Amino acid sequence: MISLKNVSKTYGKGKTRVEAVKNLKLEVKKGELFGFLGPNGAGKTTTIKMIVGLLKPDNGGIVLNNIDALKQRIKAKSIIGYVPDEPLFYDNMTGYKFLTFIADVYNVELSGRKRIDELAELFELTAALPDPISSYSHGIQQKTALIAAMLHSPEILILDEPIVGLDPKAAFNLKEKMRNYCREGKTVFFSTHVMEVAEHLCDRVGIINRGELIAAAPPGELKNSPGKTNSSLEQIFLEMTNEADIPAG
Ligand SMILES: Nc1ncnc2c1ncn2[C@@H]1O[C@H](COP(=O)(O)OP(=O)(O)OP(=O)(O)O)[C@@H](O)[C@H]1O
Ligand SMILES: [Mg+2]
Repeated sequence: MISLKNVSKTYGKGKTRVEAVKNLKLEVKKGELFGFLGPNGAGKTTTIKMIVGLLKPDNGGIVLNNIDALKQRIKAKSIIGYVPDEPLFYDNMTGYKFLTFIADVYNVELSGRKRIDELAELFELTAALPDPISSYSHGIQQKTALIAAMLHSPEILILDEPIVGLDPKAAFNLKEKMRNYCREGKTVFFSTHVMEVAEHLCDRVGIINRGELIAAAPPGELKNSPGKTNSSLEQIFLEMTNEADIPAG
């Protein structure tokens, strides 16, 4: 469960001040697959960084499975798996060394170590594991980050644009994995610009524009909202984020 209560974040001061996230209220239930959509610069990454504890909100509260994420930061981190938009690595480690290091950090038991092999198999990473991460392509680095985030079977999986850079098979496997995660009663929150993925994969999507949440509903509901009949999620997204561009009044 992810609960955001009136969360706000501003960067900079004076002329460079940017209100990146404004008074965001959002609940994502256990077992829910939630897609977070919004134009470039809308506030998705800022929101995600606050959820995972990398940025402190100016105001508001964040609760993750009944843990106050702002007060019990380490406990909150232990139940999260997170893949940033641009994963950073200890480059000269091999993939295998890195993943066993992560398993140690999260106290993954020795028996659980076979998850490295299982997940590497799933993402077709096995052959690359003995090589240094610095030699990996963008997509292979992305897969490594995904495996690292899933090693400790976190209760909440948070992924910032996870599909970007994955080949079709890896993207397919990841989407399956995300669905299975939710079937187990865990929570998945991910950002994406790919409307087809959001439309077909998510239980619910949220649309953020200029720091404000302008919709949160199942894709089917948005597509059939009053005045629309069976539009695509892409059409709805473009309309909603365009309308919001016209100044009020
Ligand atoms: N470190 C920072 N310092 C100053 N401003 C920032 C910083 N990070 C983000 N911003 C600004 O905050 C706003 C929200 O950015 P954010 O990265 O959260 O958007 P996003 O929805 O993730 O966009 P994208 O789709 O491009 O990834 C933007 O106006 C951005 O320029
Ligand atoms: Mg972003």
